[in-house]
Amino acid sequence: MATDDEIKRVVDSTDIVELVSEYVSLEKRGKNYVGLCPFHSENTPSFSVNPEKNIAHCFSCKEGGGPIQFLMKIKNIGFGEALNTLALRNGIKLSGNNKIEKVDPYKKHKELLNLSMDFYKKVLNNTEFGEEAKNYLFKRGITEELLETFNIGLSPKDYDTLYKVLKDSGYLELDMLDCGLVDKSENNTYHDLFIKRIMFPIFNEQGEVIGYSARIFNSTDKNQPKYINTRETILYHKREVLYNIHLAKSEIRKKNRVILHEGQMDVIASYKSGLKEAVCTMGTALTIQAANILKKYTSNVIICYDADKAGINASLKAINVFKQAGFNIHLVLLPNKLDPDEYVLKYGSEQYLKYFEENIIDEYSYIFKQALINYDLNDAVGIKEAKEVIFDSLINSNSKIIEEKYLNLFAGTIKISFDSLNNDYIEYKRNKINTDFISSDDYLNTEPIEIKDNTSRAQIRLFMYAKSSKEKAFYIDNMIEKYFDALSVENRNLWISLINDYYSNNEYFSEELFIKNLDEEKRAYYFKILDILRKNPDKYDDEDLEQCIEKIHLEHIDAQRNKLTKDILKTDDVNNQAKLIALKFENRKKKESLKRRDK
Ligand code: UTP
Ligand code: MN
Repeated sequence: MATDDEIKRVVDSTDIVELVSEYVSLEKRGKNYVGLCPFHSENTPSFSVNPEKNIAHCFSCKEGGGPIQFLMKIKNIGFGEALNTLALRNGIKLSGNNKIEKVDPYKKHKELLNLSMDFYKKVLNNTEFGEEAKNYLFKRGITEELLETFNIGLSPKDYDTLYKVLKDSGYLELDMLDCGLVDKSENNTYHDLFIKRIMFPIFNEQGEVIGYSARIFNSTDKNQPKYINTRETILYHKREVLYNIHLAKSEIRKKNRVILHEGQMDVIASYKSGLKEAVCTMGTALTIQAANILKKYTSNVIICYDADKAGINASLKAINVFKQAGFNIHLVLLPNKLDPDEYVLKYGSEQYLKYFEENIIDEYSYIFKQALINYDLNDAVGIKEAKEVIFDSLINSNSKIIEEKYLNLFAGTIKISFDSLNNDYIEYKRNKINTDFISSDDYLNTEPIEIKDNTSRAQIRLFMYAKSSKEKAFYIDNMIEKYFDALSVENRNLWISLINDYYSNNEYFSEELFIKNLDEEKRAYYFKILDILRKNPDKYDDEDLEQCIEKIHLEHIDAQRNKLTKDILKTDDVNNQAKLIALKFENRKKKESLKRRDK
C-alpha cells in the first residue's frame, strides 16, 4: 500500500481546478471556480471548486471531495486506481504492491485499430495508388502537414490486405470483427470492410482511434455511397462520436466555444484556417449525448452547417438539441449555399476566417436570413412557408422584443403592414399553442421541469382540458369543487378566472381573449404552465382527465390528513382527539381504495 505521506503528496501536487476542468466547464467566481455539476443534472451551476483547499464539491447534491474522490466518482473507479492515475500524472512513485494496473478490456481492440491506422497511412504515403489519392487530397487543399495532423490514410485496392496484416500480427478475427474492420463471408473467409477509400480515423476524447470515415475518390460507380463510416461497435458509438474532439477540446476550453460542422472536410478546412475548436458528427443528426459531451468543455456553440436546404434543416434540429442541453447558440450562414470546405477552397482561409467571425448571428437572425434565401417571396406559397418558419422560431423566443423586431423586418421585406402580419402571427400562435399540447416530437427528449410540490402536474393539466370546451370546463369544475382546497393558490386563482370570468362571458375558448383579461401575475403564471406542458408532451384523453381528477382527490385527502394531524397535536380535548383520529382513519381508507383503483 501507498503510505499516507505518498497519498498526501499525490493530492497536494494535483491541481484540482485543472483536474475538474477536464470534465466540467468552469468559470472563475471570486477565489473559486464554478460550473455545472457533473454528478447530477442542473441548469444553474452549483459545483464549486476551491483551489485553496484543493477540493471540489456540489452545493446541491453534495457530491465531491478532494482530487482522488473527484476522480473516483467521475470515472467510477476505486481509490487505488484513482490514486495511481494521479500519481502517474504527477510523476510520483508509489511504494508497495499497489500496482493496481488499470485493466482495459478493449486494450487489444485499441492496439488493433492503431495498427490499422498505421497501415492505412503507409498505403497512402508509400504506394503508387497512394500518390493518386494524395493528388486528390492536395487538390482539395489538404497539405502534407494536415495529412499528418489528422492521420489520414488510404485503404488499398485488394479485398483483404488489412485482414492479412492484422492476422500476421497475431490478432484474432473476433477482435477484428468487433472493431468493424473486417467482415466474414459466407464461405468463412474474411475480407476488409474498407477498400479503395481515403481513410479518416475517428478518435475518442482521449485520442484513441475508434473507427473510420472512409471517402470514395476515384470511382465512377454512382451507386457507392460517398462516405462509409464504421458501423456501431464496442468502441464506436455513432451517437456519441464527434470528429476531432481530441484535438479540439483544449481549444474549445480556451476559446470557450465550439464550432459544429456537418462533415470532416469542413472541420479540416476550419482547422487550417485557425478555427481549431471545430468538430462534426458523423453523418448523423446531432444527438443529446453528443451535445452533453461538448457541454463538458463549453456552453457556447456556433453551428456552421452547409448553407443548402438540408444543412439549414439540420441546423434547426441541432438548435433544438443544443437548447435542451442548455447551450448559448449562434450560427454562421455561409453565402451561396457553400459548405465551409468549399468556401475555403474558393476564397481562401483568410477570407473564410474573416467571414466567419463577422457573421456569427443568433438563431432568430439565422432563421430570418435563411428564410429570405430559401423561399420565393414573390409567390404566395413561398411567403406562407417562410412566414411559418419565422413564426415558429418567434413563438419559441418568449420575447416580445424579438417578436416585434422580426415581424417588423419581415413585414418590410414582403411589403405589408406590421399590423396585418402581427394579426397573422397572433392567430398562428394561438393555433400552434393549442395543437402543441397534443404532441411534439421535438420536445420528447426534454427533461421534466420541476413543479413545486403543491402544484402537481395533474392540476395544471386540468387547464388544458378546460380549454377544449366550455362543457368540459364546467364538468371539471363540478368534479373538483369538493377538492378545491387541494389546488395551489396560483392554480385556484387561475381556475376562478377561467370559469367565473372567462367562460361565464364566452362560449368558446380563445387564448388571446383569456390572456387579455388576466392580471400580470396570473398571466405570468399561465405562461409558465403553458411552457411546462409544452416541454412535457403527453397524451390528452378522457381517461387521463379522470386520472387527473382522481389525483387531485388524493391530494385533497392528503391535505386533510395533514391538517387533522396538526389539530390532534394542538388539542387536548379527548373527545375531539378521538373524532380526529377516526376521521384520519377514514381518510386513509379512502385514499387506499383510490390507490387500488389507480392500478
Ligand atoms: P456531405 O455530403 O455534406 O459531404 O456530408 P462533405 O462533408 O461536403 O464531404 P466532401 O466535401 O464531399 O468530401 C457531410 C457528412 O456526412 C457524412 C460524412 O461524415 C460527411 O462528412 N456522410 C456523407 C456519410 O456518412 N455518408 C455519405 O454517403 C455522405
Ligand atoms: Mn464538402
